[in-house]
Amino acid sequence: MNIGLIGTGTIGSGVIALYQNNFDKLKSHAKKPFKLKTICDLDFSKCPYDLSAFQKTSSYKELIADPEINIIVELIGGDEPARTIIETALKAKKHVITANKLVLAKYGKELLKIADDNNVSLLYEASVGGAIPIINNLKDSLSPNNFKEIVGILNGTTNFILTKMQKEGADYSVVLKEAQKLGYAEADPSSDVEGLDSSYKLSILASIAFQTEISIDQILMEGITKISAKDINYAKNLDASIKLLAIARNTDKGLELRVHPVIISNTHPLASVNYVFNAIYVDGDATGESMFYGRGAGSIPTAGSVWADILNIINESAYGTEKKQTINILPKEEIASKYYIRLLVEDKPGVLAEISGIFAKRNISIKEAIQKGAGEDAELVVVTHTIKEGIKNSAIKEIKALSCIKDVASIIRVGI
Ligand code: HSE
Repeated sequence: MNIGLIGTGTIGSGVIALYQNNFDKLKSHAKKPFKLKTICDLDFSKCPYDLSAFQKTSSYKELIADPEINIIVELIGGDEPARTIIETALKAKKHVITANKLVLAKYGKELLKIADDNNVSLLYEASVGGAIPIINNLKDSLSPNNFKEIVGILNGTTNFILTKMQKEGADYSVVLKEAQKLGYAEADPSSDVEGLDSSYKLSILASIAFQTEISIDQILMEGITKISAKDINYAKNLDASIKLLAIARNTDKGLELRVHPVIISNTHPLASVNYVFNAIYVDGDATGESMFYGRGAGSIPTAGSVWADILNIINESAYGTEKKQTINILPKEEIASKYYIRLLVEDKPGVLAEISGIFAKRNISIKEAIQKGAGEDAELVVVTHTIKEGIKNSAIKEIKALSCIKDVASIIRVGI
């Protein structure tokens, strides 16, 4: 079996490093001989390893057209030309391995069909949770389960930022700068901090676990940019942490899909997943609860998942495309949560009464209301009982219009 690698950046370099350093181990697991034959990139200078043993090309078309190559590893990331590369390779009847969450989330359905039609495999263990073997486990060891829920910390950048805020009391913008300096956050961090990266990954996991097609716009998505040190401090006083969670839950009304920050009790296993680590908590009717923990990114750790997929292809042990079913996706307005709402208010009599009135009108029960600060700094923190998204939105709209409200500073869901 001959392998062609397209992209020698962070993960691609790791694939080369493992081939060079762990070859004997890889070979011991392969039922057939294999070779990393050709590597493709427009610029090889960023790869820190010796590339002299490989054929090199700057043309992915040339690499795919090579009749000796049976496995294409696409690791350039992004939308195009990655999608075209995958499609072209599958249509040329080559197996494809990718770490590209964006392409899978957006075009996974059609690409998996092309793979099926051409009797080849499209594998993507490295696309979610980096080194964590969650995808092959969902398809294989965990497959007897009817899943109740999958809850993940799927983005290392945001988990790093929230952990630092939690442990050091620092504000979001300060920690974001530090994360950028350390190379964890990109210069434009929006895909991570707005929850898009986690949403792509959730759609991939949920589509396997619940055997259905999911489009990104069916996921309720909120990022972490509005979380302040004050919110973190409030959570700390409750012996809780704020985490950006990706949740897929099977309810009797449909599949609930959401990515947003959550105040979770420190007794929940996900609360202790810190810094750049990722974790996926799975609850199924056979296995019960289990949690997968590990590095969600990084060159060599993620390359380990790519090689696991390559070995599955070589050994013809790749799992076929699972059957899909149509299941109801719960509309976003129907998703129910408890809310923590922090309001900047005028410090005068009647403010609490006005706010309570807006909630009472909608039959929203308030669990807790605390005034903090006084005068110019007066704040009101309200924690509600469980309410639906749509009702919360209409209450917040009315609260914002009150003259005694200076700002709705944060709205964070409580508990999972
Ligand atoms: N941007 C991602 C993260 C990298 O921060 O987790 C891996 O997909």
